[in-house]
Amino acid sequence: MVQSSVARSSAATAARRACENPVMPAPVAIPAEITAALRGARFVAVLTGAGVSAESGVPTFRDAQQGLWARFDPRELATPSAFARNPKRVWDWYAMRREMVGGVAPNPAHVALAALERRVPEFLLITQNVDGLHQRAGSERVTELHGNIARVKCSREGTPVATWKDADDELPPRCPACGAFLRPDVVWFEELLPAEPLAKAEDAARRCNVLLVVGTSAEVYPAAALPDYARRGGACVIEINPNETPLTADADYSLRGPAGVVLPALLQATFPAKGYGG
Ligand code: OAD
Repeated sequence: MVQSSVARSSAATAARRACENPVMPAPVAIPAEITAALRGARFVAVLTGAGVSAESGVPTFRDAQQGLWARFDPRELATPSAFARNPKRVWDWYAMRREMVGGVAPNPAHVALAALERRVPEFLLITQNVDGLHQRAGSERVTELHGNIARVKCSREGTPVATWKDADDELPPRCPACGAFLRPDVVWFEELLPAEPLAKAEDAARRCNVLLVVGTSAEVYPAAALPDYARRGGACVIEINPNETPLTADADYSLRGPAGVVLPALLQATFPAKGYGG
């Protein structure tokens, strides 16, 4: 149980009281305390990472075998200096991933989170993912911390560019206004997160009664700080991940299992109905 000296609203207090026990061994057996916390919550926030899209066939980053960063060097593909050194290689890698995410579909985890949004009074889905699968599943209140791979912007001025011609053999396409190379509208290592989405995410983490943390290694900041803000604000923090993470020890609950199995079960147990994608 996380101690907090911050004054809590009655909904937050009820949510906290409902969260007295640590790690849950069985992923689909949802404890009554969790369903009570969700039902009593005025504001539910969700933080997602690559694991929520794993069952759609989108690779995660840090999986030891299949993770993108096990197969590709982020310093050569996801930094401003990599783009300056070899813009075509970086453009092509993101073009390949853009095509890949365009060819997959949301999975039951995305569907369940879209359903959760419609069940609670206040809601925000904070995602580190750039694949747009939450929106395609029907989520509306989404804040994207790391951009979106479907979008492209000018590498010099940051202006969004809606349409572009394919890259030629040597170079990425150019900005129609200033002639600089276009780049994906995603956040690279060594770059700041977009200010408005980050502020919304931090505000939600501080004010929510329940924070679900789904499919993230909880290693990349500032997103990894959000569960701590939530705990300090008195929220119940529930992790959903098949594996232990640095957050696990501090979470009120850790539901071990794939998000596409656990989340539909969580929705079904909390708000019994059909159509949660499980
Ligand atoms: P990671 O690859 O670091 O972590 C993925 C997490 O998902 C791991 O903890 C897995 O155990 C978990 N996981 C795998 N399959 C799952 C499933 N079916 N259901 C639930 N969880 C599952 O990905 P992120 O935490 O998203 O940033 O990485 C954070 C950031 O690091 C990314 O946004 C990206 C990357 O570098 C940028 O590109 C800026």
